[in-house]
Amino acid sequence: MKVLCATALISLVFTTIVFSLTGEEPVINVDFTKEQGEISKYIYGQFIEQMGKCIYGGIWAEMLDDRKFFYAVGSQESPWKVQGGGDVFRVTMDEKNPYVGKWTPVLSLGKGGGPIQNIQHGNLAFVAGKEYVGRVVLKADGEVSQVYVIVTEGAAGKTSRIVATFKPSAQYAKHDFRFTAAESTVDGELSIGLKEKGKVFVGAVSLMPADNIHRMRADTLSLIKQLNSPVYRWPGGNFVSGYNWKDAIGDPDKRAPRKNPAWEGIEHNDFGIDEFMTFCRLANTEPLVVVNSGQGDVQLALDELEYCNGSPDSRWGKVRAENGHREPYNVKWWGIGNEMYGDWQLGHMPVEQYVKKHNEFAEKMRAMDASIKLIAVGNVGRWDEVILSECAEHMDYLSEHFYVGRKPNLAEDVVQARDEVRRIVGAVRKYHETIPALKGKQIPIALDEYNYWHGPQIYGQGGVRFQLRDGLGIALALHEMFRNNDILYMANMAQTVNVLGAIKTTKTHAAFDTVALPLVMYRNDFGSVRVKAEAAWPLDAVASLSEDRKTAYIGIVNASTEPVTASIKTAGMEKVTKVRRLVMTGPNENSYNEPGKPPTVTIREDNLPDWTGSVTLDKLSLTVFSLGHE
Ligand code: AHR
Repeated sequence: MKVLCATALISLVFTTIVFSLTGEEPVINVDFTKEQGEISKYIYGQFIEQMGKCIYGGIWAEMLDDRKFFYAVGSQESPWKVQGGGDVFRVTMDEKNPYVGKWTPVLSLGKGGGPIQNIQHGNLAFVAGKEYVGRVVLKADGEVSQVYVIVTEGAAGKTSRIVATFKPSAQYAKHDFRFTAAESTVDGELSIGLKEKGKVFVGAVSLMPADNIHRMRADTLSLIKQLNSPVYRWPGGNFVSGYNWKDAIGDPDKRAPRKNPAWEGIEHNDFGIDEFMTFCRLANTEPLVVVNSGQGDVQLALDELEYCNGSPDSRWGKVRAENGHREPYNVKWWGIGNEMYGDWQLGHMPVEQYVKKHNEFAEKMRAMDASIKLIAVGNVGRWDEVILSECAEHMDYLSEHFYVGRKPNLAEDVVQARDEVRRIVGAVRKYHETIPALKGKQIPIALDEYNYWHGPQIYGQGGVRFQLRDGLGIALALHEMFRNNDILYMANMAQTVNVLGAIKTTKTHAAFDTVALPLVMYRNDFGSVRVKAEAAWPLDAVASLSEDRKTAYIGIVNASTEPVTASIKTAGMEKVTKVRRLVMTGPNENSYNEPGKPPTVTIREDNLPDWTGSVTLDKLSLTVFSLGHE
């Protein structure tokens, strides 16, 4: 590894010196007659997990942090505080007959006539003029005249107003409300209270922007659509090894919240398998569901498979139909487990033991649905060797993961992810040469978690901020994936929103982080037929043709801090009729983007009047040329 990095550094210095001494333009050779196989679209995959602010606080539109009262109202952990109180107003948690979960808050007002006494959720961001929708599930004990829903807004000098009043009955009922924010704030409040004497149970509450799309954030979804990823892996990640998917089906208000089994915070169980399928439909992508082979058993996985792919007459297909989804989801991609080799993984075990568990899952899942494709947990080294020796007949793809940190030296930093792709691909090629069980068989790689990972957590747990250099590193990693298209079939960037993250959000804005930009460019503006391309460092080039061969593409990273003028020599392209250019770059290698602010690292687009073959590549850039040709 160290040797490789030193080599890259020497090569960068050497190339720069040669260019400046000779004054010669570096040459990029592209041969469109030398086709080198298809690039799988699945390398543009993504991964989402119930971790940090990826789903809750990123994709999901719910604004309340604990809408089903996992924590006792008024406790230190709870976002709900009690306003008022004393002898007259009391808030207790009823454990005898909770609406959902462990307990339900009960608001009791002993004497009416004074101001409204309430429970209050703070830290809410409202945007003036924007509409919000909510609901509150209420039940009265005895006579309650009114329950008040109050909104507090205003940046300086807060103003409160009643946005709804409800008269609850003796049975739990859902009451909807809606309001338009009068003022913007990042410190708004939602309160639920009583004015007249009485006792009321608050089963659950919800608050979302009214422009939510099936309860997902419109701003995040719009970027997800631009990312245009063809496959999403879910629900983990470490989370899956402690997850019971059955906790998150049916009426969301009745799904009990719990502690996230792997990460900080609450698992609200609002985003379950049906919501994931809705997400995939909205994002125009395919689902990859990972089953729990950690603490979970094979029956849990079989029930999940049946819930997704079974007919409405099957036991779990019927439950799915009752939940409003009659047609099977026909999920093709299934991961069995996550990182089962690591002691951080719930239920992890030695590989000799795990292979039996994997094979049982695979056999029974395939027996239930022969059309599915199975991804087995991999990890370069002994784990892989045993898995591939013992499970080759029970898997279609081998999962591999990598995360790389930050190296201060730019040239060493930007090649880290590329080198990890090389390391993993090199190892898997070797297994195919040496492991007898793989004779005459190919098990391609599903690199179903990868990214840079360094720096402070700005966007919640795992919520690091990336810089332009990370974006260039991802571009170089993609180039390496293209070059290994014969064995690398799928890759899923970890994770789509906030956790590491292609997209970063605040409560009111969403923006692409730098690592998303190469994916946006290559997914939307690059061909699927790889052709031969060569360049010398600090340039790195790839090229392709569209399926119909009518458009040619050349992608070039310039990893140096100076612009480079290069000569592109193309074979197999007679006459270029149209040239479109996309350039990702920014002011310096540490430039970054922030939601709510104009982006610093951008994709610039223009059309060139003609194609001379001599191009100047911006410093620190990824450039993709699309060439219409005859
Ligand atoms: O992506 C974050 C975590 O990193 C995943 O949950 C886990 O699989 C990996 O270790």
